[in-house]
Amino acid sequence: MRFGAPHRHYRRTESTNDRARELAAAGAPHGTVVTADEQTAGRGRQGRTWTAPPGKALLYSALLRPLEERHAALPLAVPLAVCAAAEELHPGIECKVKWPNDVWREERKLAGVLIEARPQDGWAVIGIGLNLSIATEEFPPELRETATSLFDPSASPFDPGRRGRGGGRRSLPAVAPPTPAPTALTASKVLSRHLDHWAEADQTTVLGSWRNRDALRGREISWDGGSGVADGVDDRGFLLVLTPGGDRVALGAGEVHLRL
Ligand code: BTN
Repeated sequence: MRFGAPHRHYRRTESTNDRARELAAAGAPHGTVVTADEQTAGRGRQGRTWTAPPGKALLYSALLRPLEERHAALPLAVPLAVCAAAEELHPGIECKVKWPNDVWREERKLAGVLIEARPQDGWAVIGIGLNLSIATEEFPPELRETATSLFDPSASPFDPGRRGRGGGRRSLPAVAPPTPAPTALTASKVLSRHLDHWAEADQTTVLGSWRNRDALRGREISWDGGSGVADGVDDRGFLLVLTPGGDRVALGAGEVHLRL
């Protein structure tokens, strides 16, 4: 079960998930991956849009088929693959998962996952947007406080804008050059390798690893229907919440927010 071949790359397309769904409907094999430098109609969860400056994010969709019972934990497994890939691409960082399947680095969203499954046709498209080298000021204003990237080009000590007075070579700090951001092609290969593992991992392993990376556990959260303290996920992947009234509720879908 290998992801990454065949691999179709677009310079610009509406949505890699749309292209992958078309390929799935046309009978493309398991493992087919679609990537793009730029999406003009990238889609996120809950009907939201997903945008990224051209060439600065991994925009990736992979076809899993046949989709079977044993893939029930896929929504939890995919963000684990993204965490592992991100930590390999930028050694030293630590990623967490924010229910249901966002990937966080230092409390900010690094990557999002949109899985579109057609169980009746036996396939699922796994869509992943992973921010690679987007500077803070390149995010839309409403995301600047909450989004992050694997590498921040504006944080480089070699950025001319950050040089000391005089701006010349002498003012550069004597440190090794920063690790360059990976290309989308490199990132897609690393991600495919981790997806190979996590898409086939058994549910117990997935749940154990997910619980170790849970960003919300023990924290005050709110959602459309109420608020409480996040208390992990159950074996179905539902988010458990202890409410102020002492109830323990399980959320199966939707969005939750940290109460700051
Ligand atoms: C989210 O809302 O967090 C999920 C975002 C998923 C975005 C990715 S980018 C590649 C793929 N193509 C899409 O149109 N969406 C997914």
